[in-house]
Amino acid sequence: MTAPSAFRTLDDADVANKRVLVRVDLNVPTDAGRITDDTRIQAVLPTIREISEKGGKVILLAHFGRPKGVDPKLSLAPIAGEVASRLGKPVAFAPATIGEVAEAAVAKLQPGEVLLLENTRFDPREEKNDPDFVAALAKLGDLYVNDAFATAHRAHASTEGLAHHLPAYAGRCMQVEIEALAKALEAPERPVMAVVGGAKVSSKLELLGNLVAKVDLLVIGGGMANTFLAAEGKDVGKSLCEHDLADTAREIVGKAAAAGCEIVLPVDAVVAREFKAHADNRTVGVDGVAADEMILDAGPASVANVVAKLKTAKTVVWNGPFGAFELAPFDAATVAVAKAAAALTGEGKLLSVAGGGDTVAALNHAGAAEGFTYVSTAGGAFLEWLEGKPLPGVEALRR
Ligand code: 3PG
Ligand code: MG
Repeated sequence: MTAPSAFRTLDDADVANKRVLVRVDLNVPTDAGRITDDTRIQAVLPTIREISEKGGKVILLAHFGRPKGVDPKLSLAPIAGEVASRLGKPVAFAPATIGEVAEAAVAKLQPGEVLLLENTRFDPREEKNDPDFVAALAKLGDLYVNDAFATAHRAHASTEGLAHHLPAYAGRCMQVEIEALAKALEAPERPVMAVVGGAKVSSKLELLGNLVAKVDLLVIGGGMANTFLAAEGKDVGKSLCEHDLADTAREIVGKAAAAGCEIVLPVDAVVAREFKAHADNRTVGVDGVAADEMILDAGPASVANVVAKLKTAKTVVWNGPFGAFELAPFDAATVAVAKAAAALTGEGKLLSVAGGGDTVAALNHAGAAEGFTYVSTAGGAFLEWLEGKPLPGVEALRR
């Protein structure tokens, strides 16, 4: 990923009276049909509004879930109303993604109107980036705008293929994501700190390998830290730990040392005998975990250490919680460090960027998300970006 000038944006697009195919990520979390977090819908409203106000015909393309063929439970029909209520204007829905029904719905659109097509993944050719499916989508529009950074790690017809068929532009959400992420890792103000937490080292190996080469400080938290502590010979008791990855952990530490990246591990821990909210717990040094105890959070000395390091940093990139933040009181370290990062950001001393599914939930829980410079809408795409991988949806938008 490079500077945003490498991409065409809505500033370069003449949308008036044009049929504009806009790929958005409306893959919002739901519970019994209710949207539990509408961040992704809110994030694409500026692009929809701008095209509509400039007299473009907005045709929204999106996926929902991972259907295998047509699945009425994963229809986007209810989402049209959700977008409409937040947009403050009607959003028509077509029960088809391509073909006559979709074409007829597009033909009815007046300048400024908005239409949502059915789940792109109802057609298996979407995920295969099938040329015939791309051509059928391309028939529906004159221009293509990709505003779905959160799906940019997928080389699908609506996220990648279309960019090669129609004049292609980054939408405002895509643009903001690219700009924020470039500031955090490509040309950051140093020192740069990365905070990586979460359960497993195995799911974040590539990410850690990429980060140690790019950042000055790498703070490792959550269950992952236990694997590093165990690799140093510490007894982590019953803690979540990938003992078979001890060599890998030592390799990462070696790579960090060679690159001049300081690794920061917990020095104390909150331990309990049961994995449940309000379990009886005590705080111990990382050398003092008993055989029948498990580490559920970083302790206060670790928090103080991380916050002190944070004060020396100019940029922080955050992915993953420090502890079992969904269980009180084992959210304390995550909440304390997140609040400190938000406060330093507010004082203008830190540029803070966070992303990845559980991270956003953890920052929201801490009431700190608003205080960050930028919180990505992406889960998997944010992780792949942290791994240093090119994102096909972004790459296809290059000039
Ligand atoms: C996401 O939620 O991560 C994106 O919408 C992409 O969805 P996917 O992981 O099913 O490809
Ligand atoms: Mg995903």
